[in-house]
Amino acid sequence: MMISLCTLISAGISLTSASLSSPNACPSWQSQDLNLRSLAQKRRFIVGSAMPASNLKNDVDGGKYAATAAEHFNLLELENDLKPPAIWTGPHDYHFADVDYIAGEPGKKGWAQQHGLKLRGHVLVYARDEGYTLPQWLRTKGPAMSKEEASGLLHDYIKAVAGRYRGKVAMWDVANEAIDDRPNKNPFNLRDSFWFRKLGPEFLVLAFRWAHEADPRAELYYNEYGIEGGGTKAQHMLDLAKWLKEQGAPITGLGLQYHIDCKTSIAPGDGHYQLIDAIRKLRLGYMITELDVAVRMKRLPAGDPNRGLIPEDPADLDLQAKTYASVFQMARSSRNCHGINIWGLTDKYSWIPGFSRGRDGAATLFDKDYKPKPAYQAIVDVLKR
Ligand code: G3I
Repeated sequence: MMISLCTLISAGISLTSASLSSPNACPSWQSQDLNLRSLAQKRRFIVGSAMPASNLKNDVDGGKYAATAAEHFNLLELENDLKPPAIWTGPHDYHFADVDYIAGEPGKKGWAQQHGLKLRGHVLVYARDEGYTLPQWLRTKGPAMSKEEASGLLHDYIKAVAGRYRGKVAMWDVANEAIDDRPNKNPFNLRDSFWFRKLGPEFLVLAFRWAHEADPRAELYYNEYGIEGGGTKAQHMLDLAKWLKEQGAPITGLGLQYHIDCKTSIAPGDGHYQLIDAIRKLRLGYMITELDVAVRMKRLPAGDPNRGLIPEDPADLDLQAKTYASVFQMARSSRNCHGINIWGLTDKYSWIPGFSRGRDGAATLFDKDYKPKPAYQAIVDVLKR
């Protein structure tokens, strides 16, 4: 059941005055044929948002969270619930309850299908050892494992997860952030991760092969950050992608995260467009997978509820809108873009204020009160062209 945005307004969800022709009207851009989701559908374009399953399941903010997600996006990516630490509780033990709510247990529809959103799976192999990437039991038991044991466990994990949601996940990040930021002597400058130590670079080929065996119809991506606009890490990623193809890995494309800020310049012919063109020359697709455009925040003490939510200079929100529009413009100018996923639904739950200790934030399309920001209208305008 699609919840009309006008219903949301009557439910007390205020919107930017600029977007309301009169307090009682449902402004033109919000009529069904001009909101982000309906325009994306009309353009056969995918626009998604990364969300925690719990925010959809628990009627967060009186249902505003779920209603906004269903109203404005045609793709959903779980922010953390499909990462190995959230699911892989033991060598052959898996916790699926949270993802089942969104994807549906085998043979049943989940929230995503019930609301007409495609599902993007993030991530089968988070190929780095720090942070929320490897389950704790694997950190403990893994070092003593043989290559065969590690390979067998990874195979069984991918088969269990991608197999359970076969036909329900439109695209997977098969592997994420395997390339180091610091130069090293590993092939493709791969990180010294648990999977690399155990299996060598072949762990990537195996992961793609096993994901394809588990779900032959899902698109399969290698996902990375710090490659936006080109440069050394981007070249490592292109070299890796070329090698994966040469090894027969069934890779669909590259995921470009695009965690950027409102000062980022993206224009035809620059490094951003050159990278997209290099991907095209490899005969690969790409997705912008984790787009958020950070803005400098007012310095507020830790614990202040508005820390990371109030822009230092409100004019930066117009810069942010221009940057969002430039990413969508670039995506729409290339034939091999498979869609854009925004990393977070509303500023209120964005990862950035915590990560930046309150210095940056306001990076998504909706503010803390679920009001569409200038960036929303800016990307609608790009999709309308
Ligand atoms: O679920 C556990 C909870 O059980 C535990 O009590 C708590 C205590 O630390 O941690 C909880 O896990 C947290 C997890 O998010 C789920 O909420 C981790 O600490 C926390 O580090 C993790 O942060 C996520 C981060 O990835 C690390 O994986 C962010 O929310 C998420 O936005 C961020 O997303 C990543 C992408 O996956 C990959 N690209 C970069 C992007 C931003 O870092």
